[in-house]
Amino acid sequence: MNKVPSAGKTDELTLAQVMLPEDANPRGNVHGGTLMKLADTAGGVCATRHTRKRVVTVVMDSMTFEQPAYVGDLVVVHAQVTWTGRTSIETEVNIRAENALTGEVRQISTAYFVYVALDEHGRPSPVQPLKVTTAEQRRKWAAAEDRRTRRMQHRLEAAPTA
Ligand SMILES: CC(C)(COP(=O)(O)OP(=O)(O)OC[C@H]1O[C@@H](n2cnc3c(N)ncnc32)[C@H](O)[C@@H]1OP(=O)(O)O)[C@@H](O)C(=O)NCCC(=O)NCCS
Repeated sequence: MNKVPSAGKTDELTLAQVMLPEDANPRGNVHGGTLMKLADTAGGVCATRHTRKRVVTVVMDSMTFEQPAYVGDLVVVHAQVTWTGRTSIETEVNIRAENALTGEVRQISTAYFVYVALDEHGRPSPVQPLKVTTAEQRRKWAAAEDRRTRRMQHRLEAAPTA
């Protein structure tokens, strides 16, 4: 039986979608929520392919929209695993919009999503560590560690006191 080749690197994923009127407000600006959903989808699929487990989103860092995306634009979402803990995975998600007629590309947003892998009982489950081999991966890992420290501090501060 012929083996179908894999869909590419399992720690990275690019999704592309043309923005339609239902994705936007009456003036044609794409909703932030539409872009957030695409970003979460790309990050979640990336985390699933890395872990080969069911994952849930536990954190989405604040997201800034630097430029607008419009109806008709091709929105390209690139997700990449940047860090792994025991059961959690961070992905960096970059969103760009391309005007397919002119080729103009606009940087829309970069955000970080953390997912937790779950076992068959819905409990956090260990993930395979990310292999960090290049200088760029090491730089992203170190930055992710800093974000992780800040999130843990925030979690501690937000925890209800008994
Ligand atoms: C995700 C969930 C299972 C974690 O449960 P929990 O009891 O907090 O589990 P733990 O304390 O063992 O944490 C599991 C991992 O999540 C990480 N985590 C939990 N809260 C976090 C936060 N606020 N920031 C960063 N990481 C966090 C922990 O550090 C741990 O990672 P590690 O194993 O790599 O160190 C639970 O919070 C949940 O079900 N949340 C709802 C998820 C959801 O419905 N998402 C939206 C739809 S997908």
